[in-house]
Amino acid sequence: MSVSTPVRRATPRDIVARKGGDPIVCLTAYTTPMAQALDDTVDLLLVGDSLGMVLYGLETTLGVSLEMMIEHTKAVMRGSQSACVVVDMPFGSYQETPDQAFRNAGRVLAETGCAAVKIEGGVEMASTVRFLVERGVPVLGHVGLKPQSVNTAGGFGVQGRTDDEAAAIIADAEAVAGAGAFAVVVENIVEPLARAITARISIPTIGIGASPACDGQILVAEDILGLGTGHIPRFVRRYASLNEQIIAAVRAYADDVHARRFPGPEHVAGAPSLIDSPGRKAG
Ligand code: KIV
Repeated sequence: MSVSTPVRRATPRDIVARKGGDPIVCLTAYTTPMAQALDDTVDLLLVGDSLGMVLYGLETTLGVSLEMMIEHTKAVMRGSQSACVVVDMPFGSYQETPDQAFRNAGRVLAETGCAAVKIEGGVEMASTVRFLVERGVPVLGHVGLKPQSVNTAGGFGVQGRTDDEAAAIIADAEAVAGAGAFAVVVENIVEPLARAITARISIPTIGIGASPACDGQILVAEDILGLGTGHIPRFVRRYASLNEQIIAAVRAYADDVHARRFPGPEHVAGAPSLIDSPGRKAG
């Protein structure tokens, strides 16, 4: 009799141990089927608040609620067994005070069973990161382009082009690392800056629009799969064109329905007695 060994989930500590080693493979997931498809291959699944734009058609991530994040994370947890699942804290759920951040992050961890939360911000969020980590909440930081700050940053453009901007982003990454984050996402910053930050801080950097020198890479799964019709950022490499496949498949289905080729005999249940004697009542 073969006894299958239970799969062990990767933890934030496993991610930290990858600093400077084999690059950490990360993707977003928002649903059970997507988590099931990605789980064997990736080290970390992020339930990103990008789901507001990708799944719900919102213009920005600002309209995403804690409840949405919790429900999608439960779905991702049900669909995965080995990836480290990290959840984005949505806009307004952690910026007010460290107490607010702990109350909401605690809810996320307790209600979903995920491993960690991600919060956007650098120097200004360092005390909150420390507060969470000291109370048992592993934190993934996020510096550079911070989509939740789109209104104050003035867009989604590349960050760190000037010396002042670059120095501020280095200070942000150092502050988050110093506060105890287990890794930090560096988003849409100039390549030499991402390389320099990776060399400078002791925790893994997870790049998105950053540098191949980062300790890991993350992208939105729908973007690399060509699923959906939203704007695709410059830094995405597309590995499939699922949207086109879906359109072709749905057209073929519609053609079959119009031509009465679907359902076929294998898709319907027979009722020979009714067909043979139409006057008889079904029992
Ligand atoms: O919300 C998100 O998907 C992110 C990424 C890092 C891709 O924050």
